[in-house]
Amino acid sequence: MAIDPDFEENYEKVEPCNPEGGHEHDVWGPVDPPEKLGIHGTRVAVDFDLCIADGACLEDCPVDVFDWMDTPDHPESERKADPAREDDCIGCYLCEDVCPVDAIKVKY
Ligand code: F3S
Ligand code: F3S
Ligand code: ZN
Repeated sequence: MAIDPDFEENYEKVEPCNPEGGHEHDVWGPVDPPEKLGIHGTRVAVDFDLCIADGACLEDCPVDVFDWMDTPDHPESERKADPAREDDCIGCYLCEDVCPVDAIKVKY
């Protein structure tokens, strides 16, 4: 399973995410923490329920869009790649390519 490329139609916006050191961005739900966390970001969207904390996106993004966010008790992983600076994305699509579980969708 990969992130739903039509999440803007199939999900609904819930309370936004405003991470320390980053910028406020959309969260697409429904969410029901800690098990169901939805999708963070729109321009660079990460499906937190698919992310297994591989970390390739954090390592490879040339403009440092992602930060770790702790997600204790989530069944897939205890931290997620939060698109904290999605507005800095330059559309290189590396993150989409390297994510082993296809959790990222970039709309540049
Ligand atoms: Fe970074 Fe992915 Fe954009 S690697 S520059 S967030 S396409
Ligand atoms: Fe998660 Fe994929 Fe990045 S598993 S940490 S979104 S490479
Ligand atoms: Zn977030």
